[in-house]
Amino acid sequence: MIPALGSSTPALPGSLVLIGPMGSGKSSVARLLAGLTGRRSSDTDRLVVMQSGMKIPQIFEQHGEVEFRRLEREALLSVKGWSRLVIATGGGIVELPENIASLREMGCVIWLTARPDSLWRRVSADANRPLLKTVDPRATLQALVAKREPLYAATAHVSVDTSDISSKDVADRALEAARNWFASQPT
Ligand code: S3P
Repeated sequence: MIPALGSSTPALPGSLVLIGPMGSGKSSVARLLAGLTGRRSSDTDRLVVMQSGMKIPQIFEQHGEVEFRRLEREALLSVKGWSRLVIATGGGIVELPENIASLREMGCVIWLTARPDSLWRRVSADANRPLLKTVDPRATLQALVAKREPLYAATAHVSVDTSDISSKDVADRALEAARNWFASQPT
């Protein structure tokens, strides 16, 4: 049993920040991590929707990706000062270099990875992802992952492969990796 990284361990500073491609399970793992640590969870996609009053496909259709990235940056900045949060981010958050710096300052950045077939299995049932509205969404997803992999690697402090394990196991491994990372940081 992994000891909780919650209010009983105030010496462990910073948020738990989840990054990774669409379909890597960031939002559900964030909720599980929040339960394990007694922290609140948040989600930049949800914040964008709340703060703009628009659904994500609507933002992309009516205002374009550049405006979505601006709103996503605003959402991130709105929670950056919260020091003990679990936050899931949108798969493209690493596209803005200034976000990479902000994410790393917030705490332990956990990169959820997965094999292309696992990612595709998880996203193919969900029509809500505007960047995958292409003639070959599977190839588009793979190309996005390949393009962003170096950005995720540059942002993350630790990573967890989610391909063949349950969200609960991912959350347990992520928590253990984060605890080790915090423990390795100078005080
Ligand atoms: C995006 C991923 C989505 C959402 C938006 C753009 C991306 O979030 O932010 O559709 O650029 O990869 P999820 O990773 O939660 O699906």
